[in-house]
Amino acid sequence: MDTIMNVEIEVLSRVKPSPGERKRLLLVVEELLHKVDSTAITLGIQGIRAKLVGSAARGTWTSGTHDLDIFIPFPVHTTRDELEKHGLMIAREIAKDADRFEERYAEHPYLNMKYKGFDVDVVPCFAVDCASNIKSAVDRTPFHNKFVKKHIRGIEDEVLKLKQFMKGTGVYGSELRTQGFSGYLTELLVIHYGSFREVLSNACNWKPGIVIDLQEHGSVEHNEPLVVVDPTDPKRNVAAALSVEKFATFIDMCCSYLEEPTPEFFFPVPEKPLTDQEMLEMISERKSSFIAIIFRKPDIVDDVIYPQLDKMESSVRALFEQHAFIVLNSGRWAGKEAIVMVELSSARLPNVKKHRGPPVWERKHAQSFISKYKGSEDAFAFYIEDGNYVADIRRKYPAAKHLLDERLATCSMGKQLTQAVKEGYMVLENEDICNIKDEDFRRFLRKWKRV
Ligand code: UTP
Ligand code: MN
Repeated sequence: MDTIMNVEIEVLSRVKPSPGERKRLLLVVEELLHKVDSTAITLGIQGIRAKLVGSAARGTWTSGTHDLDIFIPFPVHTTRDELEKHGLMIAREIAKDADRFEERYAEHPYLNMKYKGFDVDVVPCFAVDCASNIKSAVDRTPFHNKFVKKHIRGIEDEVLKLKQFMKGTGVYGSELRTQGFSGYLTELLVIHYGSFREVLSNACNWKPGIVIDLQEHGSVEHNEPLVVVDPTDPKRNVAAALSVEKFATFIDMCCSYLEEPTPEFFFPVPEKPLTDQEMLEMISERKSSFIAIIFRKPDIVDDVIYPQLDKMESSVRALFEQHAFIVLNSGRWAGKEAIVMVELSSARLPNVKKHRGPPVWERKHAQSFISKYKGSEDAFAFYIEDGNYVADIRRKYPAAKHLLDERLATCSMGKQLTQAVKEGYMVLENEDICNIKDEDFRRFLRKWKRV
């Protein structure tokens, strides 16, 4: 029998970094901070003291993750151009000793590098005096850091368990791909409720609209499902990126875990790719129609591609619905290629479509309806029902695939996806989808086979 205590002890022993691992991290941090500062001096850039922020600075990083967030605070009077130029100059110097590096963009450019096995972000920011006066979104981070460090002493392990629980249940990460809980949000929940277990038992009773305001200083209304007012900025909701799906999934997982705690919540068995056979079974059991639209994946970052895929998914659903198809479910996937997948009640509608006209006694409207449809080649039948004229006409798109071929290009899906789809796409139906062998795509298909 797993008792809840045993489960949590076991989990902690797996996610808590050992003293050796901690020491290795600290050594690399020292080295990086020193390098930034001395590089700034060498380059003649005044007043720079690099800072470690994020989970590594707070003792809330889980073993095996090697992510370092190094910030370079510039004096507030620095211009944006100067900050970008000098920030990158310093970061590129550091990158000379890195295994590889690339320039990335948030609100302004920064460098991401692989340095002695660590995944390091070197991010320039403005050293503003308080988080409400930020000049760039990343400027808040040092304030988060200060707040968390002040309140997290002694309960870091609770954060480790909560982070792992969220990773295991698929709700960790605030990127647009996941729309889940950020590291900072996890820390604030632990600070607010006091422990891992208290976060879970309280979350069991969450409903959309819940507000957590540690400093009791919130100054604006928010309409996201969960509102956690940023202790360092009264106007901001730290949970703004959390989708209602991930909010609901977390509540569900908290309740199930407390009913029957097992380590699998934290370390789930990896899902196996759906086999051809399972795929065929799924199709024949459900007797619905699966449609996969497959096209080239544009070479853009996740935070740009996923919102575009979400947009495409919802506009494809809307297109089907406008043309009387019944959409049961849908999803999106990106790997080597990108795919939007839709399950329809049926991919085939009758050729006939019942088209209701005006009441017989509205003669003006009736006349034009009659002249348009009565005896027309496109009408199978013309009759009166419940006082209205009705024409049984020929449906324009009885086949889902034909509808896509004619109208997919009119669906809104963001700049890069529009371009990629314009270059070409394939529509696969039902068993033809078995031709897509990518294992990660096959895992994505489990969405339809999960119990
Ligand atoms: P990280 O995404 O690296 O998070 O952002 P983290 O807290 O270090 O957690 P893990 O353990 O690596 O997953 C670094 C800092 O940037 C700010 C937070 O202050 C965070 O601690 N940040 C990041 C945000 O405010 N919002 C975000 O969506 C992401
Ligand atoms: Mn981090």
